[in-house]
Amino acid sequence: MAIISLANAKGGAGKTTAALILATELARQGNRVVILDADPQRWITTWAELTGPIPNVTVISEVTPASLPYHILDLKSKTDHFVIDLAGARDALVTTALGVSDQVLIPVQGCAMDARGAAQILDLIRLLEEKARVSIQHSVVLTRVSAMVTTRGLQTIKGLLASRGVHVLNTMIAERTAYRDIFDCGGTLYTMDPQRISNLDRAQENAQALAAEVMSLLPARIVGSPKSRTFFRMAAKAA
Ligand SMILES: Nc1ncnc2c1ncn2[C@@H]1O[C@H](COP(=O)(O)OP(=O)(O)O)[C@@H](O)[C@H]1O
Ligand SMILES: [Mg+2]
Repeated sequence: MAIISLANAKGGAGKTTAALILATELARQGNRVVILDADPQRWITTWAELTGPIPNVTVISEVTPASLPYHILDLKSKTDHFVIDLAGARDALVTTALGVSDQVLIPVQGCAMDARGAAQILDLIRLLEEKARVSIQHSVVLTRVSAMVTTRGLQTIKGLLASRGVHVLNTMIAERTAYRDIFDCGGTLYTMDPQRISNLDRAQENAQALAAEVMSLLPARIVGSPKSRTFFRMAAKAA
């Protein structure tokens, strides 16, 4: 079981989109996925209501800092992966989610490169690591990368982040109509109509590459890791 959070203190960074394409791809591959919709704007919940039931995907809404650990404890025996979609904030819920995560993905737009929201999350992770003496694996994922952005421009961004010791995924999330329309139509990249959505196959390939790389970052055995046990004890005491 792995817990993967999408975090960026800024709204519009691409968290919800990345959460949805990652979660639905993992589910398509046969993993039982729980998406914890931890954003009061409930985009994933709205998508789920529009979509109706899909195999291997459960969406939990109304997540609070106190309920988050309990949702995980409650569902972990029948879940392969949790994907937590966070609000564009730096609050108690974001902090709690970062604390339980096996991997934090921080989407940063490849075009605009307003990385302040990402920097706030990186600071928060460092603070948690210092205070709680845990290590929180995290990676930046460049997103909304358009065909217009040159490879050189992206290499510069990657180099800048790498020079600060930040791991950046090789897989970038492209700017795709499919990733936008999925929230309007509901469903997944595999239920959408390829006649209507341009480059749907590319969007599917991109989602597959993202899921494969994220999975490759997870330690072989995560279940019952000391970090999670300590965290759950702390959370149970706090509640
Ligand atoms: N890869 C992408 N391709 C096309 N549109 C995208 C992509 N990523 C995000 N968007 C669009 O950008 C906006 C913000 O994305 P969203 O995932 O909701 O960000 P966040 O959850 O960080 O606020 C939405 O309108 C979404 O449809
Ligand atoms: Mg969002």
